[in-house]
Amino acid sequence: MSILDQIELSNTPEHIAIIMDGNGRWAQQQGENRLFGHNFGVESVREALKASQDLGVKFLTLYAFSTENWNRPQEEVDGLMNLLVTTIGNEVDELHESNVIISTIGNMAGLPKSCQDKLAEASSKTKNNTGVNLVLALNYSAQWEIVEVVKDIVKDVSNGVLSVENICKETISSNLTTSGIPDPELLIRTSGEHRVSNFLLWQIAYSEFHFTDVLWPDFKKEDLYKAVLDYQSRERRFGRVSAQIENNR
Ligand code: IPE
Ligand code: IPE
Ligand code: MG
Repeated sequence: MSILDQIELSNTPEHIAIIMDGNGRWAQQQGENRLFGHNFGVESVREALKASQDLGVKFLTLYAFSTENWNRPQEEVDGLMNLLVTTIGNEVDELHESNVIISTIGNMAGLPKSCQDKLAEASSKTKNNTGVNLVLALNYSAQWEIVEVVKDIVKDVSNGVLSVENICKETISSNLTTSGIPDPELLIRTSGEHRVSNFLLWQIAYSEFHFTDVLWPDFKKEDLYKAVLDYQSRERRFGRVSAQIENNR
């Protein structure tokens, strides 16, 4: 039986988030420079997207560039920014045809103007589509995002728009850049690293984590199916005990 056939389609995650890691090590294994790996990683984005479409996943969030990634050698940073602009330019029509909605999370104002323009164009072109939401995390860090939320809340309190007693979980989640996006049920990280690297800290409070040793440029549709199968083998208890869970596996 193929992996896809083993997946229970009525119990797939609505939102999958991926920390796409391992491009540099993959390139090194091929005796190539790091940008070669990033270029190949684009093919894996296509694979992950197609697999999400197959499974009826509604949101696919990809960690593509963290706030900390600015600390890489300038040549790599420039290469990544160029890759982003070229890839969006090359892919937007096909993504639009396949009904994908393109959006972003992160500090867009900190990206080069050419990237901001391409992303804004892609998101406005695809905003009325009804298929998978492809959310690109760019110049993103969860701690940055939380600091911004704190500032917004403090402003609202000092302007008298919000009272301290009324601050609740919803106040925070609705001010995050992921506002309106359900929390990911499943977080995948490739390349054998077992860390979160400043990704979606608030939103992954109850996510299931799937770690794979596969390097991102080697990631195929089957790897996403495997992650979903692993997710479906988990019992999500949300603090309760096993006996309280319906459809106990
Ligand atoms: C992930 O691959 C891509 C980005 C962070 C932009 P890396 O470039 O981190 O690859 P490794 O971890 O060095 O192998
Ligand atoms: C996390 O990968 C960021 C992205 C995938 C965009 P890194 O390769 O930058 O993470 P660390 O530095 O190894 O934790
Ligand atoms: Mg890495």
